Amino acid sequence: MNRLPTPLLPTERFIWGVSTSSYQIEGATKTDGRGPSIWDTFCQQKGRIANGDTGDIACDHYHRFPEDIALMRDMGVQAYRFSVAWPRLLPNGRGHFNEAGAAFYDRLIDAVLAAGIEPWLCLYHWDLPQALDDEGGWLSRDAAGWFADYATLVARRYGDRVKRFATFNEPGVFALFGFGLGWQPPGVVDADAHRKAIHHVNLAHGEAVDALRAGVSGASIGVIHNMQPCLPASAALEDLAAAARLHMHWNQAFPDPQILGYYPTILADELAPQIAPGDMARICRPLDWLGINHYSPIYARGDKNAPLGYAWAGPPDGTPQSEIGWQVHPDAFRDILLEASRRYHLPIYVTENGTGGRDQLDHTGAVKDQHRINYLNAYIGAMQTAIAAGADVRGYFVWSLLDNFEWGAGYGDRFGLIYVDYPTLRRIPKSSARWYADRITRETATGPAGKP
Ligand code: FCB
Repeated sequence: MNRLPTPLLPTERFIWGVSTSSYQIEGATKTDGRGPSIWDTFCQQKGRIANGDTGDIACDHYHRFPEDIALMRDMGVQAYRFSVAWPRLLPNGRGHFNEAGAAFYDRLIDAVLAAGIEPWLCLYHWDLPQALDDEGGWLSRDAAGWFADYATLVARRYGDRVKRFATFNEPGVFALFGFGLGWQPPGVVDADAHRKAIHHVNLAHGEAVDALRAGVSGASIGVIHNMQPCLPASAALEDLAAAARLHMHWNQAFPDPQILGYYPTILADELAPQIAPGDMARICRPLDWLGINHYSPIYARGDKNAPLGYAWAGPPDGTPQSEIGWQVHPDAFRDILLEASRRYHLPIYVTENGTGGRDQLDHTGAVKDQHRINYLNAYIGAMQTAIAAGADVRGYFVWSLLDNFEWGAGYGDRFGLIYVDYPTLRRIPKSSARWYADRITRETATGPAGKP
């Protein structure tokens, strides 16, 4: 186990925030010298993204960020979690530095701070520079060094104003979807590739923690994992085995080595050819916090023909589901927070939670997303139950500030507190935005996480 003494900052209070990511909102993919990312490439491939959508324009946050920050300020949001697009700073992933791209994040960070909001910077939310993928990407052991150099650059450039850093967003998800199931770039379906990606991303994480620690005085460094219960599609033995394997890949393959210093036994055996002497110590570097993204339980069924031995399955009929078919189960959130707190002994921030829908403007020009208010109310309540039962949760970020590019689902699945009218790019706060603003006011008045 490798952790720092509890890093309670003198000014620390429970933090209420919102999250976004670069590729999902920025647009301007060819502006000011940005290089292509693997998502630009993937979106060009026929049939990959619903409706043929791309991130070319997205929410045009690159140009409209002042308006978006004003909306956050109006909501009383205390922290803003965003990600930096690696290919804006380093169009080829390494080598040539793009000053114009770096200057965008200067403007963004300065405006966030001027609005009295704390910036939380994530280094990697899935938009790997295409040039690096051409050199092997996460399948290359060199990727750890590329990522560390990029982290050093980010630390030097923004570390005077940003203190909260995360290395990766959801490595368990992009490794599985990118290399095991082929739903995300680079679209590989291969068990060996999946294993290599796991280990190399873990090495990159450890090296980046050191780079951030060395480059930023007073840094508070974490990593963000998607944690969900992984359940069998039926009681059949092969489905139980499938769920156990999905759990290992999804919930353990990254946080265990990064925080506890070891891989789950089965994975350790499978990864043996990849693990060089000293690797585990390079991966397990002291962290200040753990970010948890949570949405809903996920399901697996056994599939002998699938490279990983399992296939993705939907939630059982009859379970409560969101408008986009994700199971709604707040007790699972409570249990995940308690379990992660017990297992990892780090302060937890819920860095993403929210729900997708088919929200629409009504005839009065309003977006009444009562379904989202119900979801957030139930999930925040579950989090507070977990806190009362001893989970060390210190903040909560809604996914997402804005409707945005929802990866393979394109623009059809809307997760925002703010509606984006894509043809005009007009922003319209939904009912949930008002509700969240009121909730923040109430919670802040009654003390941390609603405790008097
Ligand atoms: C998470 C991703 C985020 C968003 C939400 C709905 O897995 O981190 O970018 O797509 O799901």
